[in-house]
Amino acid sequence: MTASPAPHVDSLADSRADSRAESLAESLAVDLGARSYDILVGDDLLAGAGARIAPLARTGHVVVVTDANVAPLHLDRLMASLAAAGLRADAITLPAGEATKSLTHLDGLIDRILGLGVERATLLVALGGGVIGDIVGFAAAVTLRGMDFVQIPTTLLAQVDSSVGGKTGINCRHGKNLIGAFHQPRLVLADMDVLETLPERELLAGYAEVAKYGLIDDPDLFAWLEVNGPALCQGGGNARPLRRQAVVASCRAKARVVAEDELETGRRALLNLGHTFGHALEAECAYDGRLLHGEAVAIGMVMAFDLSVRLGLCPAADADRARAHLAAVGLPTDIRALRRDDWTAERLMAHMGKDKKVLEGRLTFILARGIGQSFITREVAADDLRTFLEETLTA
Ligand code: NAD
Ligand code: GLY
Repeated sequence: MTASPAPHVDSLADSRADSRAESLAESLAVDLGARSYDILVGDDLLAGAGARIAPLARTGHVVVVTDANVAPLHLDRLMASLAAAGLRADAITLPAGEATKSLTHLDGLIDRILGLGVERATLLVALGGGVIGDIVGFAAAVTLRGMDFVQIPTTLLAQVDSSVGGKTGINCRHGKNLIGAFHQPRLVLADMDVLETLPERELLAGYAEVAKYGLIDDPDLFAWLEVNGPALCQGGGNARPLRRQAVVASCRAKARVVAEDELETGRRALLNLGHTFGHALEAECAYDGRLLHGEAVAIGMVMAFDLSVRLGLCPAADADRARAHLAAVGLPTDIRALRRDDWTAERLMAHMGKDKKVLEGRLTFILARGIGQSFITREVAADDLRTFLEETLTA
């Protein structure tokens, strides 16, 4: 990973609560002027989270929101750390899973937050994966016209992608993430320890988003992942330092793009490599757990490369390389493994037509000229897309 400069070492010398491991956390800045914030990546960060969070908790009151899987594993450590830092903390536990990103759950969440007698200056803390980060971030954006929040991502996907950049939101019957707001967190704490309890399938789904950064514009990162990705995903041995390196590289890549284009008027759309196809597949699978978001992104990225090859934009060898690496770590890469008999090109295109990136009726695609050479285009003709999807579904 020669492309990425070495991160500076964070040293909060005056924070006695920090363990030695935590004092070696790597700190990356998301540079957004007055709304800039730090991403800390390290070991045992939950233990010292209270000391990190206390300066942001203006009222001394914090509301932690987590999910029913994460609560028994990690909530006590966070609550103890908040108490040790002198903070009054309440906890709210939501059901786990994508279905929680709904208006019904948002309504219930805001009702419970307001029921705790919060002020606008009360701090919300999202302890969980992308589902919790997205719904808590959106609740923070709209409750009392905007509360501050902190992200403590507990999945690899959330650590490398969803906790950074301020996209918050929920799903509705028209599609995924169609109700939301840009609302940046005040701090992101990515603790390597919490990944130890993550099911392997979820870890792999998060890995798809790591590979995404390599495929977008960092061929050195992709080459590093080709060597180290299998060990990173399998666990044991040196998986932990590899995961940490991957999280740091991913957060650095995301922080750079977000600083350039916070509201996705241009370059940030590159982060959606594989998502136009992936979101359509997720919608067809009804978010019922058959296809995780990261798995959909893995298949979608392979489809984006295949479409690029079909349009004469990308060497077939690069698409083969992308597919081979994702398959080597155990990610799905083939739509046919999911296909139901009633799936058609028109049906998938109807989902794509609801994408937030549709502009003047034209779909936005992230295509590639090669590994690490992705670009944004609105020039894919509907007929070419239909033919590509028909062939992909029946190949
Ligand atoms: P998730 O939040 O549903 O977490 C996956 C599963 O892992 C859940 O069952 C959860 O309870 C469990 N879990 C979480 N942490 C755990 C841990 N440490 N140990 C054991 N189990 C744990 O899903 P996700 O993959 O983290 O996030 C997917 C969501 O993120 C999607 O809704 C997607 O749209 C969203 N997303 C948002 C952005 C953004 O920029 N806001 C970017 C990418 C994805
Ligand atoms: N996950 C895409 C983005 O944050 O822009």
